[in-house]
Amino acid sequence: MKRTVMLGVGTALPERMVPNAELETMIDTSDEWIVQRTGIRQRYIAGETETTASLGADAAKAALENAGVDAQSIDLIVVATATPDNTFPATSVEIQNRLGISHGYAFDVAAVCTGFIYALATVDAHLKAGLAKRALVIGAETFSRILDWEDRTTCVLFGDGAGAMVVELQDVDADTPDEGAGILAVSLRSDGSHKEKLYVDGGPSSTQTVGKLRMEGREVFRHAVGMITDVIENVCGQTGIAPSQIDWLVPHQANRRIIEGSAKKLGISMDNVVMTVDKHGNTSAASVPLALNEAVQDGRVKPGDTLLLEAMGGGFTWGAILMRV
Ligand code: ACO
Repeated sequence: MKRTVMLGVGTALPERMVPNAELETMIDTSDEWIVQRTGIRQRYIAGETETTASLGADAAKAALENAGVDAQSIDLIVVATATPDNTFPATSVEIQNRLGISHGYAFDVAAVCTGFIYALATVDAHLKAGLAKRALVIGAETFSRILDWEDRTTCVLFGDGAGAMVVELQDVDADTPDEGAGILAVSLRSDGSHKEKLYVDGGPSSTQTVGKLRMEGREVFRHAVGMITDVIENVCGQTGIAPSQIDWLVPHQANRRIIEGSAKKLGISMDNVVMTVDKHGNTSAASVPLALNEAVQDGRVKPGDTLLLEAMGGGFTWGAILMRV
C-alpha cells in the first residue's frame, strides 16, 4: 500500500540562548517558579536578521542533508506558522525561494501549536491524492516578536526556532494498518469557542496591527490533557496499537506538567517520552520537529520505531499522528 514515509529531519535555532536567570533581570519572575510550573530552563530568541523564513530555510536544509536528498527533488513545501515574515506572500514560498526551488508548490498552514501536525496531515493527503511526490513539512516560529515582554504570565513560556521533515510517498509492504513504515493514522480537531483563552489581539483585518499573545494559562492547562488524550486514543484506535505499545511519544513541548499528565493518563512510561521543553521553551509549531530531531540525532529513534506525534494549542486546535520510521 502507498504511505507517506519520513526520509529525514532537521532543525535550526537562533544564535542567542536566554536562560531563566536573564529573564529574572527583566521582569518579576524566578528560575525556580518557571522550572517548577513549566519545566522550562532556557529558550532561544531570534536576533534582528533571524526570521521565521530564515530559520525555516535553515531547518529545511538540515533535513534535506539528513535525508540525503537534493532540494530540487522537492515538489511541495508546507509551512506551519503563526508568525509569518509578512502577511503575504506565505512564508513557505519565501523558503521555497531561499532553497532555490521554482517548481512545484508551497503554502502555509495556520493551526498555532498544532501547526506541524496539521501540516504533516495535509502533506500526507496531498501525496496520497497524487498532487506531489516528495515534500518538506516545516514548523517555524518567532513567537518572541508577538510576546508582551511586560506580561510575566506569558513571556517566560515561549521561544523561537524551526524544525523540518522530508517525506515522500512510497510503496510499503503492509497488509494491515498497524504494519510497515509511514503514516499509519491521523486525527485532527478544532473548536473555535475557546478563542478568548489563547489568541493574539491584533491582525491585518481586525486592528491593522500585529498584536500580542494573550493567554489564560490555567484555562488552557485545564483543557490540554483531555484534548491530547482524545486524539491519541483516536489514532491508536484506528490501528489497534495501544498507546502503551508506542516506542516514542513526541509531544508538543508547552509544559512538562501537561506532557506528564497526558502520558500518565494514557499509560505511557516517561522513559518513552521525548522531552525538550527545558531547552527550547514552547516554540509552537516548531516544537514537535525540534523534539523529534533531538531523539533521531541522538539515536533514541531507530528504524522500525513507532512514533506518536501530538499537539494542542490556540483555537483551540489539537491533533495526533501515528507513524513508523
Ligand atoms: N513568575 C512568577 N510568578 C508568576 C509568573 C512568573 N512568570 N507568572 C505568573 N505568576 C504568578 C501569578 O501572578 C500567580 O500569583 P498570585 O497567586 O499571587 O495571583 C501565581 O504565579 C500562580 O499563577 P497561575 O496562573 O495560577 O499559575 P499556574 O500554576 O496555572 O501556572 C502556567 C501558569 C505555567 C501558565 C500554567 O497555567 C500553564 O502551563 N498553562 C498552560 C499554558 C500553556 O502552556 N500554553 C501554551 C500555549 S497552548 C499550548 O501550547 C498547549
